[in-house]
Amino acid sequence: MKEQIERIMAEIQSLQCKTEKEVEEARVRLLGKKGEITQLFDEFRTIAPELKREFGQKLNVLKKEATAKIDELKAAAGSSSAASSSEDATMPGDIYTLGSRHPVSIAREEIVGIFRKFGYDVAEGPEVEDDYHVFEALNFPPNHPARDMQDTFFVSTGHVNPLLLRTHTSSVQVRAMESMKLPIRIVCPGRVFRNEAISARAHCIFHQIEGLYIDENVTFADLKQAILLFAREMFGPDAQIRMRPSYFPFTEPSAEVDVSCNICHGKGCNICKGTGWLEILGCGMVDPNVLEASGIDSKKYSGFAFGMGIERIAMLKWQVNDLRHYFENDMRFLREFSTCVEV
Ligand code: PHE
Repeated sequence: MKEQIERIMAEIQSLQCKTEKEVEEARVRLLGKKGEITQLFDEFRTIAPELKREFGQKLNVLKKEATAKIDELKAAAGSSSAASSSEDATMPGDIYTLGSRHPVSIAREEIVGIFRKFGYDVAEGPEVEDDYHVFEALNFPPNHPARDMQDTFFVSTGHVNPLLLRTHTSSVQVRAMESMKLPIRIVCPGRVFRNEAISARAHCIFHQIEGLYIDENVTFADLKQAILLFAREMFGPDAQIRMRPSYFPFTEPSAEVDVSCNICHGKGCNICKGTGWLEILGCGMVDPNVLEASGIDSKKYSGFAFGMGIERIAMLKWQVNDLRHYFENDMRFLREFSTCVEV
């Protein structure tokens, strides 16, 4: 038995196989049901008890070596066959297509980047909000018709303070006024929801960026300056703005802002409908009622707020004539933005 063990051990050490088939044959010959090592184990049962210890150990070592060698040869044969099959130089190569950022994300980051340069921080808040933060704290009295300006999706009704999908990110400004130390200078980007029919100009889900600046002695002139600087960064150094009086419950006075048409430079074209101006945002001085509702002393502090639709700004910047393109994920549309990484 000793010679047999030594012979098989030597054979294992010099064993070489090229293919997986050869490895399998070697395994059957050594370790299979009738394999040489298996047979030695059978014989082991019949040897003298005083020899059992010595041969038992030797046999175990032999089996271990054989199993390890077979595993090693199997792995080598497997990987070389895999390598050889992938080396077919006539196969077409793999095509990796690079993804690109969505135009709404590109526009959002560009707008946020401009305000960051002006010293604004970014604040975010929940999309499912309560009536208090979306309406009441912003000076919309209960049942006031101003609430109809923004058709609302309600999540729960019947409570004093129902849950709803926020219709603007002004709710984030309320949360900031409640929790942040003054002065506050923030922009609030995010998704908003309005129960509106989907068309080329409106969607029930869109994105806004609203801004808020509260400090001592903030004036309408500061607001105008901030908007003008933003318009020039966004639409080019020659951009002009004009302000038209408007109404929002949370600002007084309020204005809507137009920027000079960046396509016809004021001459009149079909994008600006011949007027030379494009509406970009709403803004105003924060109503003292709104400051007081969040615990801010309106005699000491004043502030301005503004809000814009990201899709609208992106439509004007890239001359997209239908808002729905931003939501349909048509690859032909999205690919047009794959080189737009100017943020
Ligand atoms: N919250 C307004 C809207 O969604 C926009 C706005 C913000 C207007 C701040 C004035 C001041 O329509």
